Amino acid sequence: MASLLLLLLLAAAAAWVWGRQEWRARAVERGFAAQGVRGPRRGGWLRGCNEEPFNLNSYYFGNRQKPYISFCIKSYKVVKEKGGPFLYWLGPQPRICISDYDLVKQILSNKYGHFVKNDAHPVILSMIGKGLLLVEGTDWVRHHRVLTPAFAMDKLKMMTRTMASCAECLIKEWEDQTSTRKSIEIEVEFSKQFQDLTADIICRTAFGSSSKEGKEIFHAQRQLLAIVITTILNVQLPGFKYLPTKRNRCKWTLEKKLKNTLMQIIQSRIASKGNGYGDDLLGVMLDACFSTEQGEKRDELVLTMDEIIDECKTFFFAGHETTSHLLTWTMFLLSVYPEWQDRLRVEVLRECGKEKPNADMLSKLKEMTMVLLETLRLYPPVISMFRKPITDMQLGRLHLPRGTAVVIPIPMLHRDKEVWGDDANEFNPLRFENGVIKAAKIPHALLGFSIGPRSCIGQNFAMLEAKSVMAMILQKFSFTLSPSYVHAPADLITLQPKFGLPMLLRALDA
Ligand code: HEM
Repeated sequence: MASLLLLLLLAAAAAWVWGRQEWRARAVERGFAAQGVRGPRRGGWLRGCNEEPFNLNSYYFGNRQKPYISFCIKSYKVVKEKGGPFLYWLGPQPRICISDYDLVKQILSNKYGHFVKNDAHPVILSMIGKGLLLVEGTDWVRHHRVLTPAFAMDKLKMMTRTMASCAECLIKEWEDQTSTRKSIEIEVEFSKQFQDLTADIICRTAFGSSSKEGKEIFHAQRQLLAIVITTILNVQLPGFKYLPTKRNRCKWTLEKKLKNTLMQIIQSRIASKGNGYGDDLLGVMLDACFSTEQGEKRDELVLTMDEIIDECKTFFFAGHETTSHLLTWTMFLLSVYPEWQDRLRVEVLRECGKEKPNADMLSKLKEMTMVLLETLRLYPPVISMFRKPITDMQLGRLHLPRGTAVVIPIPMLHRDKEVWGDDANEFNPLRFENGVIKAAKIPHALLGFSIGPRSCIGQNFAMLEAKSVMAMILQKFSFTLSPSYVHAPADLITLQPKFGLPMLLRALDA
């Protein structure tokens, strides 16, 4: 009897939750329809519009049948034909997709904090912490003030040597493979190798730490990422995150491991303090935590220890995941456009010879910069940005109720022919010949690192890293796509090749 009662209660609770969600969803749809904003059919609040024919992110990058960029931008047409924003559903969550550059600029350049980041998924929070990427308001100002000096150009230039040394180890492995196998070509899966390499680089440059600790952080974050990818569309039931389900237990173990490893890195830096904590990212944070400019202990902490741990998580993840995909897509495009591969090699050999590149040499690689920017335009590692207004807002003709999730679809904007020209879908690095500002019909149309106050703090770091790795590969190898490559760019939080990037690598002096 008791169990029957419990069952009835559960069924009633489920019906109530369902009814409330459905009622809310219809109210949202009605509200936007009254403003002329529609979108693809909603498939029920559990499913959203996630199944075909509407997946916002599946249209920009061609598909497996047409191996190279067949841009079937169906969603783009929805926007352009109807001339404005549209509504779609991600699971139970409504999203307003904004593809008008003027509106996007209003959102991203807003200095008054009217648009804040969307609430992060709980597992994303465990994975990257509430660091600079997610904090808001005065907390953001405080964190930003502490962290900015770590990215000064003179510091970044010093890091170039470490970046190049990490790349050198990997390149040596490939050289050994080509010489021991005595084959002209070896097959390398670049996506995975670049993830390892960029994780190693961020670990050494930002935290001065060993690759063993770096690997532990890397693995914990990757496993958390896998949980995010499988659960991102699930409805978040209240209290569910506290239940000891298999997934929750796994998440708790990984969280603990991440925190312990980061604590080890931090403790050993504190223990080895000589004249200061060092001038890498971790050193800068510890300094802000413990000492005044006169070297005395602060009365009021500028960053707490928990905030430092969260920043370490943020920087570890943001600092390697995105750059590895930029490198991956650059390799892909250079193998599809071998004439550009040759051009870059000529430039690299002219400016760096066969030496390990330093920051001054890298600053002379103009065509390399153009290719990286064009890659960022066609294959932006960060595929969407999310914001919500903190009060009811008027955005152009659109009335946005407080808290409405707004999506900025970067690939869609990067292929707008009115802004980028008729060749918007083609790979043409020359559009960046006169710099980013003049590359399109409006300035700052490239959103790969975002724009405005919340733009990427690590963009110079990423560009230096990508240039040094690419320069060193081009000095030693030529490369083509492996026949086993399948073109399937996928939105797995960042844009990555779903089946990796197998390439055939050939030593230049073979
Ligand atoms: C190719 C590489 C990279 C790309 C494409 C990229 C892209 C972006 C984008 C689009 C944003 C804005 C996100 C938003 O507003 O929702 C962002 C923010 C951020 N990025 Fe990057 N990023 C890259 C590399 C890096 C690196 C190497 C670091 C650190 C070492 C880094 C750290 C951050 C941080 C901390 C923020 C938050 C900034 C803030 O809100 O003030 N990123 N990045």
